[in-house]
Amino acid sequence: MLRAIYPGTFDPVTFGHIDIIRRSAAITDELIVGVLQNKAKTPLFSVEERVKMLDEVTKEIKNVKIVPFEGLLIDFAKEMKAKVVVRGLRAVTDFEYELQMAQTNHKLNSEIETLFMTTSLDYSYLSSSIVREIAAFGGDISQFVPEEVMEQVTKKIKEKKIQEKRSV
Ligand code: PNS
Repeated sequence: MLRAIYPGTFDPVTFGHIDIIRRSAAITDELIVGVLQNKAKTPLFSVEERVKMLDEVTKEIKNVKIVPFEGLLIDFAKEMKAKVVVRGLRAVTDFEYELQMAQTNHKLNSEIETLFMTTSLDYSYLSSSIVREIAAFGGDISQFVPEEVMEQVTKKIKEKKIQEKRSV
C-alpha cells in the first residue's frame, strides 16, 4: 500500500496543483494533500477555506484525502503513516529550495523519501502568488484556477479591499 503526501500552502489551489494531484493519485494507493496552517504567514484564505476548495476541486478523484496540518512535515507524514512526500518541480528556480527541503526532511527522518514530479509544461509558470496578484489588480484568473476557486478569490479580494478602506 503506497500512501503519499502532497504538502503545500494552496493559497489558492491552481490548475498546476490539480495536475500534480491527479498524476500522483494515479500512481499511489492513497494521496493525502496536506494543507499547511502556517501561523507565521497570513494567507489570503484560512486553512478551512483552503481545505474546502481542495475538497471541491478533487471530489472526483477517489483516492485523495485533504488534511490540514501544523508544524513539521515529517511529523505529519509519520502521523499519516506515509513514507513518501510528493513535490512538484516547475523550473530550475524551484530546485534549490526543493532540494534543501527534501534533504532536510530526509536528515530529520531517513524513512521519508521525497519524490519530485515535473509540472506539465502548460502550468510551469503558474503559482498561487501570481494568481493572487493578478486577482488583486482585477485581472482574469479563469485560465489559472477552476471556476469555483475563481469565485472565492474574487469574493475574498473584494472583502479585503472593503476592510482596507474601512481601516484607513
Ligand atoms: O506550497 P508551498 O508553500 O511551497 O509548501 C511548502 C511546504 C508546506 C511544503 C513547507 O513549507 C513545509 O513543509 N512546511 C512545514 C514545516 C517544515 O516541515 N519545515 C521543514 C522543512 S525544510
